[in-house]
Amino acid sequence: MHPDSQLDAAYWQQRYLTGQTGWDAGSITPPLLDYFRQLGLPDERRILIPGAGRAYEAEYLHRQGWRKVWVADVAAAPLRDFQQRVPDFPAAHLLQQDFFALKPTPPFDLLVEQTFFCALEPSQRPQYAQQCAQLLRPGGTLMGLLFDTEFSQLGPPFGGSREEYRSYFAPYFDFVHFETATNSLPPRRGRELFICLKKKQPSDS
Ligand SMILES: C[S@@+](CC[C@H](N)C(=O)[O-])C[C@H]1O[C@@H](n2cnc3c(N)ncnc32)[C@H](O)[C@@H]1O
Repeated sequence: MHPDSQLDAAYWQQRYLTGQTGWDAGSITPPLLDYFRQLGLPDERRILIPGAGRAYEAEYLHRQGWRKVWVADVAAAPLRDFQQRVPDFPAAHLLQQDFFALKPTPPFDLLVEQTFFCALEPSQRPQYAQQCAQLLRPGGTLMGLLFDTEFSQLGPPFGGSREEYRSYFAPYFDFVHFETATNSLPPRRGRELFICLKKKQPSDS
């Protein structure tokens, strides 16, 4: 977390406790669901969902049989909600931690982005891309959704454009997919990018 950020754990915890969670879709969103469905059978791949909130993605993956799924969030309330919904999810995989302090020991195969990037101070975006790269193995994947729109009110959420985002990820990732999502939730339709980025291999130039 940025030391000067007002968007600290207490801020997010308060948003959950007061029900100010307009971002919460109440279930896994269609673009992520479609992506997960083509991952194949559950295996040993290590998956991290940072800024996961109530973590509907982790619930889906867990129920499908994926066992190496971790959830990270600074706020306690959504993790507690998740634990009540999915009591057999391993408690040790629920990390109440700052994303920027997570360690790649061992590294992850897949990182899932769903309305976490837009919740961070925009000044943290280069650091977000760098930390995603640090947490992934070479060839590992960062996938998910990024808003490709500006918001009229002061964030969070903070908006942005695909051109801006490209500059953050290009030093560390190859771009497999970086296009307007075709199956967004109706209020987000045409306003978000579906991204699938592969961490560069050491031999890549
Ligand atoms: C807009 S919410 C999105 C939650 C969830 N991904 C969803 O779509 O419902 C942003 C989440 O990021 C968490 N968060 C904010 N800063 C964080 C940080 N530095 N490390 C980990 N989690 C953080 C907040 O507590 C909140 O749950």
